[in-house]
Amino acid sequence: SDQLPLKGKKVLITAGPTHEAIDPVRFLGNRSSGTMGFELAEKAADLGAQVILIAGPTNLTTEHGNIELKRIVSAQEMYEACHENYSDVDVAISAAAVADYRPKHASSEKIKKKEGDLNLELERNPDILKSLGEKKTKQFLVGFALETQNEIENATGKLKRKNLDAIVLNSLKDEGAGFGKGTNKITFIDKNLDIKTFALKTKSEVASDIWEEIISRIHA
Ligand code: C5P
Repeated sequence: SDQLPLKGKKVLITAGPTHEAIDPVRFLGNRSSGTMGFELAEKAADLGAQVILIAGPTNLTTEHGNIELKRIVSAQEMYEACHENYSDVDVAISAAAVADYRPKHASSEKIKKKEGDLNLELERNPDILKSLGEKKTKQFLVGFALETQNEIENATGKLKRKNLDAIVLNSLKDEGAGFGKGTNKITFIDKNLDIKTFALKTKSEVASDIWEEIISRIHA
């Protein structure tokens, strides 16, 4: 129905940061709060979808009956959880701030300090979104991009490279947009290069705008 435009749809959303172990007590991480992903999940659930929310370490939680929350820690765990659940979802949105690199050798013991410098060797994590794009069948696949220069061009490049249906660009140049803020300013770009820019809004309002754009395309 119009009230529940996502009724009968399955949605997969990733949210939050990932933590990459250095040793049992230390990790590499980032300042993502997870807010955008959780807002997208709540909104989809309110619109009738069955949601699988795969979240990295965050203080956020959800009580929504239509959301199955799976907590993971590392990018590798997020990769596995995504692929376990991807085959029968209708829409997948990658809102997580996935660590690009992980320590090559996580120490099983706490690393002791010693004189002089310590070098940490890093290796690449898998690009989860790109791997989902490669095995895309019916899914409407959406990514995020946080760019500081040539924003539209870079976001469009990612959309093509990762085989996405749409990408949500948030510009750090825009006051109030991005990490650690309650607000966001986005540009929605689809694979036909239809580009729509929105005003600065709360992340809850931004989630509504994003779903409106997605729903108009999956119901077209
Ligand atoms: O290439 P870049 O990291 O800028 O792309 C950002 C998009 O890719 C986001 O949607 C992010 O969630 C996703 N991503 C991912 N796995 C990675 C890196 C980014 O899914 N290892």
